[in-house]
Amino acid sequence: MDWQDTFADRMDLIGDTAVIELLKLAERPDVLSFAGGLPDAATFPMDAVKEVTAQVFDDHGSMSLQYGPTAGYTALREWIAERMGPVEGVTATVDDIIVTSGGIEAMDLIAKTLLNPGDVVIVEAPTYLTAFSVFRCYGVEFVAVDIDDEGMRVDLLEEQLVELERQGKHAKLIYTMPAFQNPGGVTMPLDRRRKLVELADRYNIPILEDHAYAELYFDRAPPPSLKALNPDGVLFVSTFSKIFGPGIRLGWIDAPPAVIAQLCQAKLGSDQCSSTVAQRIVYEYGRQGLMDSQIVLSRALYQAKRNTTLEALTGHAPPGMTWTRPDGGFYVWLTIPEGIDSTSMLAWAVEHEKVAFVAGPSFYTDGRGTNQFRVCYSYLDQGLIEEGISRICRSVAHHIERRHRVSV
Ligand SMILES: Cc1ncc(COP(=O)(O)O)c(C=O)c1O
Repeated sequence: MDWQDTFADRMDLIGDTAVIELLKLAERPDVLSFAGGLPDAATFPMDAVKEVTAQVFDDHGSMSLQYGPTAGYTALREWIAERMGPVEGVTATVDDIIVTSGGIEAMDLIAKTLLNPGDVVIVEAPTYLTAFSVFRCYGVEFVAVDIDDEGMRVDLLEEQLVELERQGKHAKLIYTMPAFQNPGGVTMPLDRRRKLVELADRYNIPILEDHAYAELYFDRAPPPSLKALNPDGVLFVSTFSKIFGPGIRLGWIDAPPAVIAQLCQAKLGSDQCSSTVAQRIVYEYGRQGLMDSQIVLSRALYQAKRNTTLEALTGHAPPGMTWTRPDGGFYVWLTIPEGIDSTSMLAWAVEHEKVAFVAGPSFYTDGRGTNQFRVCYSYLDQGLIEEGISRICRSVAHHIERRHRVSV
């Protein structure tokens, strides 16, 4: 069989192997990897999960391995809905919640439900790189809006919306991560959030709010979610990947019930229902208050790692290198002098310094970001972070020097 001739055209649209390569790097024992956005395995509640799993099988028997409702295990949906109040400032009922197989499936279901080929999707520049794999599958056109230290620049968004209108186009979705953005690490303040929801409402564009990291804040919680500011216009997505463990593959969407009904239709052809046993485990774990107590510990761990990362950068960075200062989440976004290509620097750094990060262009729709890159500090052992950052800084210094030599 000549397989090359058999693949669908959409595979040309989504053929980015960056994530697959990242996960491979994380497995190489000789490389200190700041590449993949993996949680620290020390936050995985192994003992509690063993106990809770036994309890689930004792209490629910074979039902735990049976198919379940497409919208999710009702008790878990109720628990999520109730928790949306204190955690996100959102009033939700069970009818507003669908349980998904992770945040990525949540995005995919929303895309499947809302997007036609040629539709315009507004994304942040830079944005979460897997969002491209999801949205590209639906043949959409991206409009990228730059971020600054306060997240998506709503002034630029407004300019883009005016321009789209001039072209007779209407954006179909705005995808944003207002808290501890991936890869920027930045957070949108309240006044900008208000402007964003007001603008989206005025133009009648749904917002997909991705809150994957919002609960992992350091000194203080981020401002109220966009969902809290405009419950009817925001499709809220979050995940248990960072606050429990990505292997459980569960997330959720909070959306108006009419949208949930469509999302359920979309999910039927995706996986019909998310893992029944996984949902019962997460419910039991959450019901006993274990999720919330683990999150407190996880925040402290990631804050310590963030601190070490920023201190190491301050200590080792060559002149001309700048970076963001996250108040939560997993990521620092770095900028190096123009003319240094982060993609070739990455190849050099893996080979010569045995350190990895993600080069900037992976996070843009249009090849920008050549002098930028992402460092994820969540995964590496605390004791290795300073060494890893010093290796990155040596790689940058080497490239600055090399560029200087070439230019004289
Ligand atoms: C911004 C963002 N959204 C969503 C996800 C979804 O992850 P999952 O499918 O594991 O829930 C991630 C994971 O890295 C992420 O960084």
